[in-house]
Amino acid sequence: MSEKEHRVSRRQFLNYTLTGVGGFMAAGMLMPMTRFALDPVLQKEESSDMVAVGLVKDITAEPKRVDFKVKQVDGWYKSDEPKSAWVYKNESGDIVALSPVCKHLGCVVNWNSDKSHPNQFYCPCHGGRYEKNGKNIAGTPPLAPLDVYESKVVDGKLYLGKAKPAGGAK
Ligand code: FES
Repeated sequence: MSEKEHRVSRRQFLNYTLTGVGGFMAAGMLMPMTRFALDPVLQKEESSDMVAVGLVKDITAEPKRVDFKVKQVDGWYKSDEPKSAWVYKNESGDIVALSPVCKHLGCVVNWNSDKSHPNQFYCPCHGGRYEKNGKNIAGTPPLAPLDVYESKVVDGKLYLGKAKPAGGAK
């Protein structure tokens, strides 16, 4: 090959240089945009974590309301969502954690607040009632038992996860 065939014209040099620099700049702009668009997909889901809500030794046979917060991730928005549970030990000594959300229209139920029906969960919105184990009482508006929180005990602490329809939680 002659030396003439290897020579690069000024026009070719400019084309190569501008294409290279342009491609480099485009990649520099596209990388952060792609990362920004995919960020929620790449993040580990944090909202499924279980949360420590108290000590097992403090749990009695009488349902007590426990308030706690769950980390919520919605796209780029992170927040602490407030939650509540009614927690007690049943006759077998097992810990029961019930959701306070009424299965009729979503009001909050209270324990033992209706003097004419003691030792039941009572919903003040439409008079819904539940037995201590969360079972809805026939003849009152709710048509399903209270949801049950997933729970586990580690080092003497009670951890709660998601509330699931009765029978679906462990
Ligand atoms: S919302 Fe609880 S009884 Fe209607």
